[in-house]
Order: sequence, then structure tokens, then C-alpha cells
Amino acid sequence: MGKVCPWWIGYFLLSPIRKLRQNPDKILSPYIEKGMKILDIGSGMGYFSLPMACMVGDKGKVICIDLQEKMLNKLKRRADKAGLNKTIETRLCPSESLGIEDLKDEIDFVLLFALVHEVPDIKILFTEVFETLKSRGKVLVSEPKGHVTDKELAETAAIAEEVGFEVIGQPNIKQSRSVLLQKK
Ligand SMILES: C[S@@+](CC[C@H](N)C(=O)[O-])C[C@H]1O[C@@H](n2cnc3c(N)ncnc32)[C@H](O)[C@@H]1O
Repeated sequence: MGKVCPWWIGYFLLSPIRKLRQNPDKILSPYIEKGMKILDIGSGMGYFSLPMACMVGDKGKVICIDLQEKMLNKLKRRADKAGLNKTIETRLCPSESLGIEDLKDEIDFVLLFALVHEVPDIKILFTEVFETLKSRGKVLVSEPKGHVTDKELAETAAIAEEVGFEVIGQPNIKQSRSVLLQKK
């Protein structure tokens, strides 16, 4: 497990320059449809959460989970300003559990972007995520190239497979190593 990203890095992750390499619409539009219920785990200040809220529309939901209150407070202010506060819900969690037992079989898509290498127990993370997903629900795992090697990503994917996921793709996302998982 790596160190948790300090809260002030959250501001850098919102930089408009990031969009040139990691455009949320391009990365996520293949997986998201109107009305979907989505989890953004390790959402930070919501670089991906706000665009996902636009994609799911008024009838959809984006539940953003993070263990740092400062990240979620900034995310909430951004959602208010963008008129997306009805679509975006925030949840503060402890590091050892996500507190999402109430979402069993409800979720269509889960985003784990630059998160997994910071989590203390990856198996618990994937088990909790698995329980929330509908059958055939998908998870996009994307890890920063500077922090995570191909071998480490393969180990992460192997843990996901043990839990019951199938690897169905390896999306090409700049500066990242990524796998797409599906609940079998
Ligand atoms: C590198 S940031 C990525 C933020 C966002 N996904 C993005 O790509 O802009 C990682 C985020 O995951 C959160 N995080 C780390 N460990 C976590 C855990 N066990 N549960 C929930 N969130 C966690 C951190 O607080 C931080 O906001």
C-alpha cells in the first residue's frame, strides 16, 4: 500500500491541463449511460465525479466516497456551483471499509482512478465493490504509471479475479495503467 494522497494535491488533480491527457468524457463515455448509478471511490475533489454526473443525468446518481473530508467538502462546493448537487452524493469513509453495505446489487459502474495503490487491503476493497454491483456491472481500475508497475497492476487484477471479477479489457489511458473488470 502507498501513502494516501495529501488533501492539497487534490487541487492539482483538478488542473484543466490534466484534461489534455485524461479527458473524463473520452475515458468514461464508453461505460456510462443516462440513469446509471455509479460509485466514484477515492473521488478526491471530483475531477471525474462532475463529468460523470452530467453523463448520468437527472435520473442517475454518482456516489463519491473518500476518506478525507477536505476532498469531499471541495467536491460538494463544486457540485453546488455546477447545479449537480442532486445527482452527486458524498460519503466519508474510514480507510479499512467503504461503508456501502446498503448499496447491494444497485450499482452499474465503479470508478477506481488512482486509488487502489493507496488502499490498505485490496481484497476487501474488491469484495465490497463486488457486492454493490449489479450482474455484469463494470469497474474501471486506472493507476498512475509513476506509482504502479505492470506487474503490480497484474497482481491487483489477480486479486479482483479471486473475488469473482473477469478482466474484459485494458483501456489505453495516458499516464496510467488500466484494466476493465466485469462482475461475472
Ligand atoms: C490520487 S487521489 C485520486 C483522486 C481522483 N480519483 C482523481 O483521479 O482525481 C486518491 C484519492 O483516494 C482517496 N483514498 C485513499 N485511500 C482511500 C480509501 N481507503 N478509501 C477511500 N478513499 C481513499 C484519497 O483521499 C484521495 O482523495
